[in-house]
Amino acid sequence: MKKGNTKARVVSASKHNNTELAKKIKSGEFKIAVYGLGHVGSPLASAWLHAGAHVIGVDKSPRVLENARKGKTHVPEPGVNEAFTKGLKNKHFAVYDDPVKASQDAHLKMICVPVLLTDSFSADLAAVKQVASAIARGLKKGDVVSLNPSVPPGTSEDVILPILEKESGLRVEQDFFMIYNPERIYEGRAIEDIEERYPAIVSGAGPKSLEIGAKLYSMVAKKGVIRISNMRTAETEKLLEGVYRDVNIALANEMAKFCEKVGVNFWEAREAANSQPFSHIHKPGVGVGGACIPVYPQFILHTADIQKVDCNITRLGRNVNDSMPAYCVDQALRLLDGMDVSQSAITLLGLAFRGGVSDTRLSPTYKVIEELKKRGAKEIRVHDPLVTSDPNLAPDIVLTSSLAQAIKGADLVILVADHPEYRGLAQEKLGGVPVYDGRGVLDKSKFSGRFASIGKPS
Ligand SMILES: NC(=O)c1ccc[n+]([C@@H]2O[C@H](COP(=O)([O-])OP(=O)(O)OC[C@H]3O[C@@H](n4cnc5c(N)ncnc54)[C@H](O)[C@@H]3O)[C@@H](O)[C@H]2O)c1
Repeated sequence: MKKGNTKARVVSASKHNNTELAKKIKSGEFKIAVYGLGHVGSPLASAWLHAGAHVIGVDKSPRVLENARKGKTHVPEPGVNEAFTKGLKNKHFAVYDDPVKASQDAHLKMICVPVLLTDSFSADLAAVKQVASAIARGLKKGDVVSLNPSVPPGTSEDVILPILEKESGLRVEQDFFMIYNPERIYEGRAIEDIEERYPAIVSGAGPKSLEIGAKLYSMVAKKGVIRISNMRTAETEKLLEGVYRDVNIALANEMAKFCEKVGVNFWEAREAANSQPFSHIHKPGVGVGGACIPVYPQFILHTADIQKVDCNITRLGRNVNDSMPAYCVDQALRLLDGMDVSQSAITLLGLAFRGGVSDTRLSPTYKVIEELKKRGAKEIRVHDPLVTSDPNLAPDIVLTSSLAQAIKGADLVILVADHPEYRGLAQEKLGGVPVYDGRGVLDKSKFSGRFASIGKPS
């Protein structure tokens, strides 16, 4: 038998039935560590706190740790602050900056740090590898490790598991258990998604891991658990969800452009088409952003390149969606009606990657700015009701939450993110400035001046 870290008391998940395990979770004998208190980790930690668990939150960011210790999160996710505050008060929530100590003290360890893209469009696994290594150094017999980010197929088995086994000296299925559980949240209603909306997808490194994973997740997911036969399939399942949406959005973009040319309102046609149960056409728009939808197809494409498999539709969908900022900028600049773009001030509505969130990761607004700069726009301002600062914006670009300031003296407004605050906008509120609606959310009848919208005939 290989040696492992046995500092903390051995509390093995495998030996318990559901009731016993639930008791140990509620008593704090079986603790849960969540690594990465971001958009995924903080609602997951909250869901476990709601279930009565004792949760250890771990992060590498001093700001995130400081906030968590005050019962706050930087992620504006409903219910998280309340869960953290209550957890601190009743001593169910502790915040650690030492990831190894957290692993020593906890029994289920959930890896919720990001997997983004490298410059060459492969998965950047640095953060998950780093966390796996720290967990391994505190791993004990009977512990459970759960990988939660979306990753290329094979990552759990070929990358993370070897780190855990090598650095702990323990063997999976024999000494500890490993599960892969892809998170299925939609930002802005993440806790509800985890607890109420979807069944949890659970897979394991072997039958014992799967069994324990299913037991554990059925304690937070009211819709239950979908058991997947192996981790590679569960990893692929999550990517399929993302690729489906990316390709579907690309189709919507293509059809929206087609409709504009033939003088048809795409939105009206779409609504009617989707009344047929086999039609689920998504919404077109100025671009696909966020840490998920534009990223997952790249995981597939990168793996497909290595395996020499054609994934033409996935690739084409990505290309179509990537071309949308340039397309929309061209459509919008036509509204300048001959005015020289190099003399124009252009206001962008929305910096978040979509409406209702403050997350700016891979936001299409950055691409729109790039396109406007390429075309020589004199001045670019950005308005966002939720994003108040952004180190990624060039210093010459003004970011404001005041609509009046954003549109003062502007020659053109381009709506990029569909924040709910923008939906009721009308000509007067935008000072009569020409408007291009890159999300198709504005009511054309409220604009008597120059106005154009994606998917609507001009
Ligand atoms: N955001 C979503 O809506 C969503 C939905 C489903 C799945 N996912 C998946 O979840 C992953 C995580 O996404 P997120 O949105 O929560 O990211 P995030 O950036 O919001 O949060 C990640 C947190 O991890 C911390 N962190 C980074 N490296 C660390 C390290 N080495 N050690 C400890 N902490 C570290 C960061 O400080 C941050 O607080 C994504 O890569 C994605 O695959 C995200």
